[in-house]
Amino acid sequence: MQHFLPNGKQLVIRRPQIADAAACLQCFQQLTQETDFLLYTPAEAKMFDLKKEESFIQSYLQHPDHLFLIADVEGEVVGSVSLNQGNFAKQHHRALLGIGVLHRYWNMGIGRRLLTAAIRWAEAHPKIAIIHFEVMATNERAIQLYRNFNFTEHGRIPNGIVQPNGQRTDLIAMSRQIKSL
Ligand SMILES: CC(C)(COP(=O)(O)OP(=O)(O)OC[C@H]1O[C@@H](n2cnc3c(N)ncnc32)[C@H](O)[C@@H]1OP(=O)(O)O)[C@@H](O)C(=O)NCCC(=O)NCCS
Repeated sequence: MQHFLPNGKQLVIRRPQIADAAACLQCFQQLTQETDFLLYTPAEAKMFDLKKEESFIQSYLQHPDHLFLIADVEGEVVGSVSLNQGNFAKQHHRALLGIGVLHRYWNMGIGRRLLTAAIRWAEAHPKIAIIHFEVMATNERAIQLYRNFNFTEHGRIPNGIVQPNGQRTDLIAMSRQIKSL
């Protein structure tokens, strides 16, 4: 899918190939340095190397029930979205969402476009009917994005996150049923 950003640059939302591993790894490691809202710490992200990133991309390319898409702005990977179907048969109707965009590309509609593409894929999937995730209660921008797509909040895990500096944050469970079960 091709789009134009407000700065005139071209955005393509697509599945990564193995050749994109270095750019995907760079984006992932940079994201963990720019935001505390992801689960990975920068130290954990540094443990990924090119070989692991290639295996990570390959696992999605081989798996029809998981989705990994990247936001490619004129050759630079600036964000991604993932959907992972539940591992157990009783969870096969659910997919766990992960999303991130590099800070200098925030507020250009990339998150909205990644989420739109992920929802479309899930709508066409034979089993997945619910997209769910947990978001840190302080992550107002992400919560706004999810509300825009009619995701609803179902509860809170108090102190669900302890940041490396010891700061505690509640987690909010959100989901949306995207088709009937
Ligand atoms: C959440 C994230 C993916 C959004 O990406 P993005 O490309 O900036 O998203 P968009 O530009 O499509 O939309 C952002 C929305 O947030 C809104 N927003 C911007 N600043 C905001 C703020 N301070 N408070 C609340 N909402 C805000 C925008 O207005 C926009 O909503 P609108 O379309 O109704 O105006 C991005 O900020 C990110 O990667 N954050 C760090 C990682 C992260 O938090 N991932 C999610 C973990 S659950």
